[in-house]
Amino acid sequence: MNCRDDYTLSTEPEAQQPERIHAYLARSYWASGIPLETVRRSLAGSLCFGVFHAGLQVALARVVSDRATFAYLCDVYVLEEHRGRGLAAWMLEAIAAHPELQGLRRFILATRDAHGLYARHGFEPLSRPQAFMEILAKASYAAPAQPDPKG
Ligand SMILES: CC(C)(COP(=O)(O)OP(=O)(O)OC[C@H]1O[C@@H](n2cnc3c(N)ncnc32)[C@H](O)[C@@H]1OP(=O)(O)O)[C@@H](O)C(=O)NCCC(=O)NCCS
Repeated sequence: MNCRDDYTLSTEPEAQQPERIHAYLARSYWASGIPLETVRRSLAGSLCFGVFHAGLQVALARVVSDRATFAYLCDVYVLEEHRGRGLAAWMLEAIAAHPELQGLRRFILATRDAHGLYARHGFEPLSRPQAFMEILAKASYAAPAQPDPKG
């Protein structure tokens, strides 16, 4: 565990607080409506960098990785009342220093408007965007279609 002022940073799986993470992600622009169970599964399969204040999780950065060649950074947030204090930068430093994330061939992320933040930590626009493809759910966490009552 790593401490700064009144904050601690932990990558321990048991330290992460899925209900609090869910409360933020469900109102985020990228995972709106995500079910709690999906958040739990995503945390269990990831390296999670959580920041805590007074025992409560106030920030997260989640890394999906094989821990050898590739990583994907996602679900990066800091709760509103804790922003502007360097917590996101701290999580990005911890990610860069993590022993299981060294020597990767590719580390990617997607962001709507925080390019400047990530650029300070070495991320650049895709060098060959035309090489990438995706399967993107159109309404990922929308309520499932209701069965037709007439069958
Ligand atoms: C983006 C976010 C994680 C930044 O958290 P934060 O703890 O306030 O960021 P920091 O205090 O560590 O800021 C570090 C630096 O990055 C800059 N920065 C912060 N957010 C930025 C953004 N969206 N775009 C560009 N630069 C940004 C800050 O100005 C700061 O620069 P400084 O050192 O010159 O003051 C936070 O604003 C947030 O949770 N936003 C909503 C969720 C979101 O957009 N997440 C990113 C999805 S990819």
